[in-house]
Amino acid sequence: MQNKSAFVFDHPLIQHKISLLRSKDTSPKDFRELTEEISMLIAYEVTRDLPLKEVEVETPLAKTRTKVLSDKPIALVPILRAGLGMVSGFQKLLPNARVGHLGLYRDHETHLPVEYYCKLPDDITESVVIVLDPMFATGGSATAAMDLLIGKGCKDIRLVCMIAAQYAIDVMYKLHPDIPIFCAAVDAELNENAYIVPGLGDAGDRIFGTL
Ligand code: PRP
Ligand code: URA
Repeated sequence: MQNKSAFVFDHPLIQHKISLLRSKDTSPKDFRELTEEISMLIAYEVTRDLPLKEVEVETPLAKTRTKVLSDKPIALVPILRAGLGMVSGFQKLLPNARVGHLGLYRDHETHLPVEYYCKLPDDITESVVIVLDPMFATGGSATAAMDLLIGKGCKDIRLVCMIAAQYAIDVMYKLHPDIPIFCAAVDAELNENAYIVPGLGDAGDRIFGTL
């Protein structure tokens, strides 16, 4: 389903699992498992346009020409911490993807992102870069990630989140209209602490049990 400027997954399995994820009664173990499962389902759609190349394969009966993923590198870039929870789901479908790490936290007072770590694959500029972060609230962290990756020369970047605030989608569209945004739900509001409402709370705390 295409929102004004984001692709919103309306698949019943994804919607079902997002509802379980939102519940305050979901344990960290179940939260991590659901995050992995939703990420895997999302990965299927986010990779729909990956380039293929033709190869020859010998079946038990005959030789045939068939297609496999091209050699174009793929980089998964989770925004720490919460983005880490989405990596394993993507890696199950993209086992050869490299993983870069981008450490950003939101300052509690200003809600602005602060960078504290960055380690990216050497071939990041030639890669299909898939940025992972479950929450897209004010859009500050994700737009900072885009600024950094575009500044390094990345040309094919996609943002994948689980819950997006409409506010963040609008911010990204204004600053980086060419970046495709994939999410599983769009929530209308942000509260006074810049948390998404209804949202699911603090994703990093729920994944890592630091509530
Ligand atoms: C959360 C979340 C995003 C960011 C979203 O991270 O995982 O990175 O906030 O908010 P924004 O769109 O307003 O920038 P947080 O800063 O809480 O760090 P954590 O993942 O280490 O808990
Ligand atoms: N970060 C989260 O983990 N949740 C929100 O709702 C907003 C930012």
